[in-house]
Amino acid sequence: MPPFQLWKWQTSIPRLRSVMTGETPVLRSPLMKRGQKNIKELIKWARDYLILKKLPNPQLVAELVAEEITGKDRINFYLEPEITVDDKQEDLFKKNIRGCGRKIPLAYITGKQHFMGDVFFIRPGIFIPRPETEVLVEEALQLIQKLNKECPGREIIVVDIGTGSGNIAISIAKRIKKVFIYATDISNYALQIAKRNACFHEVQERIEFLPGDLFSPLKEKKLMERIDMIISNPPYVEGKKMRYLPEEVKKEPDFTLNGGEEGLDFYQKIIPASYVWLRKNGFLMLEISCDQAKKVTQILYERFKNLPQIFYDLENNTRVVCIRKT
Ligand SMILES: C[S@@+](CC[C@H](N)C(=O)[O-])C[C@H]1O[C@@H](n2cnc3c(N)ncnc32)[C@H](O)[C@@H]1O
Repeated sequence: MPPFQLWKWQTSIPRLRSVMTGETPVLRSPLMKRGQKNIKELIKWARDYLILKKLPNPQLVAELVAEEITGKDRINFYLEPEITVDDKQEDLFKKNIRGCGRKIPLAYITGKQHFMGDVFFIRPGIFIPRPETEVLVEEALQLIQKLNKECPGREIIVVDIGTGSGNIAISIAKRIKKVFIYATDISNYALQIAKRNACFHEVQERIEFLPGDLFSPLKEKKLMERIDMIISNPPYVEGKKMRYLPEEVKKEPDFTLNGGEEGLDFYQKIIPASYVWLRKNGFLMLEISCDQAKKVTQILYERFKNLPQIFYDLENNTRVVCIRKT
């Protein structure tokens, strides 16, 4: 059969035709008003569309976009028989699904990302928090509790370098009251979003956001040798790997990902500087990629002359390194 006829034959299948054209086959009950669409049908259309676009987890993505549009939790799409949306909502739903099809990250479409069980506002142009970074936060929380016990009555000072949306700093401040955090970032735009997140989570009184390069904004704060913990998830992708990143990841700004030729540029700056800024017994905690543990621990050992600790993520990859200044 020549290709044209094959196309005609394929598109005569109603479901496939609807996916290709964007029309949604609608189950309409007698009670449903004109212009109202059943969300389950829209989700089915979206799933098929995203399968065609080879997007991973198409069902989940479709449901998450539907959550945004309806304001309902996705479990309700299957518990409540008829959740409907109007024309405007349908258009927005389809626009967002097509955005996913073009590999725009879901967090940029919905404007939100979950981290440590909380919601953070996200905008295109800033880094999207990853679940792996929760390991860094979990371990930091344990060590801050330890510091709290070692120095009762004193506020613990934490510095978050490259705070992005503020997810690390805010997650710590939410869980530990006797802590003050200075959070720096080179991007003023990221800091605007971070401040908004801090207000939303009601921790803005205990975090100061400072624009600038790495430690430079701390100079005016008279913090030399007063910092209890320095924490960072710096850009760490190897320069030559940048062009092979998944399309979605490439939509995030280069300066939030690119760690220089070997991916180590930020570690080479942050580690020696941290030694200078930390107080005695203070901790440096860094997220790393799974293949950087050896090189980063070597840089740590050279400066701190102490043995670093390594923490693993759920997939058993090395994910966090930590060292104490003795
Ligand atoms: C991998 S992202 C981490 C964001 C956030 N902390 C997280 O874990 O989700 C790295 C962050 O470092 C920031 N950054 C890049 N270069 C920087 C520099 N020279 N000084 C301070 N921050 C920088 C980027 O803007 C970005 O927000």
